[in-house]
Amino acid sequence: MTRFQAPKGVSEYYPGRSIYFDYVRSCVIECVQSSGYQLMELPIFEDTELFTRGVGESTDVVRKEMYTFEDRGGRSITLRPEGTAGVMRAVIEHSLDRGQLPVKVYYSGAFFRAERPQAGRYRQFYQVGIEAIGLSDPKIDVEVIAVADRAFKKLGLSKYQLEITSLGDLVTRENYLKELRAYIETLSLDEEMRNRAVLNPLRLFDDKRPEIKELMSRAPILMDYLTVQSAKDFEKVKELLIRLGIDFVVNNRMVRGLDYYTGTAFEFVHNELGAQTVIGGGGRYDGLMAQLGGQELSGIGFGLGLDRILLACEAEGIEMPEGFELDLYIVPLGTGDEALIIAEELRERGLRVDLAFGDKALKGGMKSADRSGAKYSVVLGANELSSGSIQLKEMETGVISSVTLSALANELIERISNFGDFS
Ligand code: HAM
Repeated sequence: MTRFQAPKGVSEYYPGRSIYFDYVRSCVIECVQSSGYQLMELPIFEDTELFTRGVGESTDVVRKEMYTFEDRGGRSITLRPEGTAGVMRAVIEHSLDRGQLPVKVYYSGAFFRAERPQAGRYRQFYQVGIEAIGLSDPKIDVEVIAVADRAFKKLGLSKYQLEITSLGDLVTRENYLKELRAYIETLSLDEEMRNRAVLNPLRLFDDKRPEIKELMSRAPILMDYLTVQSAKDFEKVKELLIRLGIDFVVNNRMVRGLDYYTGTAFEFVHNELGAQTVIGGGGRYDGLMAQLGGQELSGIGFGLGLDRILLACEAEGIEMPEGFELDLYIVPLGTGDEALIIAEELRERGLRVDLAFGDKALKGGMKSADRSGAKYSVVLGANELSSGSIQLKEMETGVISSVTLSALANELIERISNFGDFS
């Protein structure tokens, strides 16, 4: 029979490592929530045009990497390659931009790009992203960067570098693109490159071929064309980052892979990952909402790559929670029916409980209890059930105490200090 395998290049997490993935994701989400960003749960597929228009026809993402198909109603559908366009669509559709500004939302989930798979680069990968929409103020740029930086620090990461740049406003772009086009005219490029340059000359900076990289390294630099206002905003961003103690370097050759960026753009680069070193990136996208049919509102956000952040934590040897934290492991002797009922009662009281299934002898059951990582264990045989008296074992110390079965839940709740509210 066919042995099925996951599709090529997807990232997946299963027991053994999934707990670390969960830990990284929770840590990032906690930082995001504590800064006032609210959940946006969006569809995994959208109209293809949302991405061609939003992300940009000249980008690699749209040209080569989208998973696009026709649905049963003949509509062109695409699995989301990124989150910002979908958020904008939802904000416009549900008129969230008519309320208090900025709209601050976050999302977490799978994204899809048909890239060549390698370590840290997957065809299905995971991001936590945030978007702050409707405020044109360098302070919000800094907040967005600070949220990501705080998440990395909270995880214990230290071997990463924040790189920032400014892509300027519309006037900056116009002036710069004129110069860049003039420079590109002087180069001898193949037809594909020429076509790409017509769509968006900035995309020539994406080309990985050494000879093109060399040519583009001599191209004019956008930063030299910043308008007075753009330069002032960028100075403010730098000033506030310094005040917050967030280290950065200015990278005036940064190329973000999506077309919608304007103004502040940034990437977090980790030093100990092989080829795919960018653990998160984002920036301002002031024209995007209007481009997608909404009002003229600015926005800024980031996408953090959870798969790469986990790899970075592992590369730095960061300690993450070991094992699934259980409060009690029950080893039943006999049918185990009663143990199942008791386990459910304890779980209803908010305790984290597991039990041995199958006809395990005492020794096997105790081995499972050891492996479970539970704080306490108890053996439930006919004697215990008839007398109502059990021996509660603290796994770390081996200390055993007699407890009545009816008092077990209260006893455990009292003992377990890291418990939430039981009122
Ligand atoms: P992005 O730079 O394309 O931006 O992706 C954000 C992060 O997702 C990257 O820095 C990387 O960590 C991770 N990532 C991207 N592609 C892959 C892949 N194939 N495999 C593994 N990880 C990957 C965006 O997606 C923008 N929507 C971010 C944003 C939000 N900008 C403004 N608001």
